[in-house]
Amino acid sequence: MISSPVVIAIDGPSASGKSSVSRLVAEALNFRHVDTGSMYRAFTWKVLESGIDPKNRQQVMDLIRKVRLECDFIENEQGGLRLRTRLDGTDPGAVLRSPKIEAHVSQIAAIPEVREWLVQRQRDLAAQGDLVMEGRDIGTIVFPETIFKFYLDANPKIRAQRRARDQNEAGFAKAVQVESVESAIAERDHKDSTRMVSPLKVADDAIRIDTSLHTPQDTADIVLKHIRSHYLARK
Ligand code: CDP
Repeated sequence: MISSPVVIAIDGPSASGKSSVSRLVAEALNFRHVDTGSMYRAFTWKVLESGIDPKNRQQVMDLIRKVRLECDFIENEQGGLRLRTRLDGTDPGAVLRSPKIEAHVSQIAAIPEVREWLVQRQRDLAAQGDLVMEGRDIGTIVFPETIFKFYLDANPKIRAQRRARDQNEAGFAKAVQVESVESAIAERDHKDSTRMVSPLKVADDAIRIDTSLHTPQDTADIVLKHIRSHYLARK
């Protein structure tokens, strides 16, 4: 038997399908869904809102000491449970997905003290029960011991089209072009995979899935099939 709590780790680069797939897998298993990217985005929002230069590591570290970070779970539209992150009582909401936050988040996420702080919170969440956790370093650093590790990826053009569509549907400022989204994504991928601490990389024991030609439901079904066969094999 697998001892509880169970963590399903889903990693991958931007717009690889992690969020939709993680939500579907969490709903199918009745697990909670933790989007760790939203924690890095929320803190980036707070840094910018506080007028701190994201390059000023000392000021960012001072903010970590001062800010009140609350993580809890609320119902999503489908009735599943998703993480909510509040900073000093505020949930920043849809602005977290804006190009402005995307332009700065990788810089903030590369600061070791930021990672230590948020990774500790992520581990605490698992102590409260089973979950699907998505991010960049879940299978490598946050929960290296879990047997359920997936790495999603997709063709860069398709990823850029997906992200441009999401941002245009959200209606941020002016319409975004696929080309500019593609270069922003490439820059963020580069920063995320070359940083000193916890870079984005595939865990040796992760199952890799190319989502380019799959719907989120197809990918979720592949993930669920692996999870169920692992469970049965170990019972
Ligand atoms: O939605 P998308 O995949 O584009 O990004 P996200 O998962 O919301 O993550 C936003 C950013 O947070 C990433 O580009 C990373 O810089 C950072 N991040 C991280 O460093 N580690 C994680 N576990 C999750 C996100």
